[in-house]
Amino acid sequence: MAVIADRCPQIQVTVVDLNAERIAAWNDDDLSRLPVYEPGLDAVVGRARGRNLHFSTEVDAAIAAADMVFLSVNTPTKTRGVGAGQASDLRWIEVSARQVAAAAQGHTIVVEKSTLPVRTAEAVKAILAAAQGDAHGGKTFSVLSNPEFLAEGTAIADLEAPDRVLIGGEDDAAIEALVSIYGQWVPEERILRTNLWSSELSKLTANAFLAQRISSINSIAALCEATGADVREVARAIGSDSRLGARFLQAGPGFGGSCFQKDILNLVYLCRHYGLEAVASYWEQVVSLNNWQQHRIARKVVQSLFGTVTGKRLAVLGFAFKADTNDTRESPAIRICRDLIEEGAQLAIVDAKVDPAQIARDLEQAPQEIAAAGSVPAGEGGWLPVASAEAAAQGADAVLILTEWAAYRQLDWVAIAALMRRPAWLFDARAIADADAARAAGLTVWRVGEG
Ligand code: UGA
Repeated sequence: MAVIADRCPQIQVTVVDLNAERIAAWNDDDLSRLPVYEPGLDAVVGRARGRNLHFSTEVDAAIAAADMVFLSVNTPTKTRGVGAGQASDLRWIEVSARQVAAAAQGHTIVVEKSTLPVRTAEAVKAILAAAQGDAHGGKTFSVLSNPEFLAEGTAIADLEAPDRVLIGGEDDAAIEALVSIYGQWVPEERILRTNLWSSELSKLTANAFLAQRISSINSIAALCEATGADVREVARAIGSDSRLGARFLQAGPGFGGSCFQKDILNLVYLCRHYGLEAVASYWEQVVSLNNWQQHRIARKVVQSLFGTVTGKRLAVLGFAFKADTNDTRESPAIRICRDLIEEGAQLAIVDAKVDPAQIARDLEQAPQEIAAAGSVPAGEGGWLPVASAEAAAQGADAVLILTEWAAYRQLDWVAIAALMRRPAWLFDARAIADADAARAAGLTVWRVGEG
């Protein structure tokens, strides 16, 4: 919405949320304190806020004034009831649709921006239709699907120059109204028009294909380690085939983020719902392989450190699910750290952008002092936030790189090795560190996918 406001100064954009604290943070004069860390976002908000970009808790008033409403609420995986663990929880979509139905005036175009299971628009339409022609008369609605394809960390660039914008719908006038917004900066040939169901399904399919590529390369990484091949050489060789393409072939600790797993599980649930068991189990494997990869890395660490990490200090560099974000949702670091804590390890965790309070929520464990010997009951794992890679490495047996922050490419391995207990290891799950320098400094180095 900030980018739309930035690119279309003639359009008034109001972002509304029930959470007053969050809205206050979006209105903070200090742009470095916006609730989401995303490179370039502060500049965009700084240019548009107060001009034609507004953040408010006045939800009904904003809906009443709007020609177009974007439903951008979260749709997490259900944790209970029918479809628990797979289906999307649509309660916030429904609540929002009902609120739009009640508060809208005149003709309103309702755009599904949240990622949704196929045919959700039907429910949204039914709720809106029930309000059509209500009391004060004349309220009408059109529903469009306009899924978002931006990736975190590169969101602003992805929005400013998207590969495509997808708009699904049945009402040509509504479609063209939305096209006219994106058309302010996106070339016409990149704006795709489809029916509603194709649009909803395209979003799930794009994420499933992207995640599948990561599970595929991670499966080959394990085989490379076993056979003496190098996954980066394999990735370069296959990526040179223009039919495959070079991007999204980076082996790592498994994919994280709020979307890939959720969307695939949603797809799996939909397939089962329609009786397509073979299709469901095909896609389910992408998630299973990803879970396996995360556990595999924790197991690799334990095995390498003579089969036990109990009471050992390990330096964990990076906790976000990818670089350039403070988002930890489904981060592979969560499962890997939990496995190691379960084994009794003492983790010193550093991430320049992630709040330690978030790490505590993710690990479901408060931090504890781990540096002083005897300060924790024997055998119990724990973790402590630290401010730098050097502080993490102090007295550690191993350094683990779990997020590909640029700073980890330039670590001074001589200085770090001098702080560590010998024998010392580097486990580079992102294969970004200078492995030769680490080896030269006396560390035993494991890199994902290197045989
Ligand atoms: C993903 C998609 O890339 C976006 O197109 C989509 O809009 C978004 O989900 C969404 O549905 O909201 P995002 O999760 O922000 O975006 O980030 P990605 O760059 O896709 O990375 C996802 C995970 O895969 C990260 O943990 C990343 O480290 C990992 N990854 C990515 C790899 O392990 N290897 C790669 O080669 C690429």
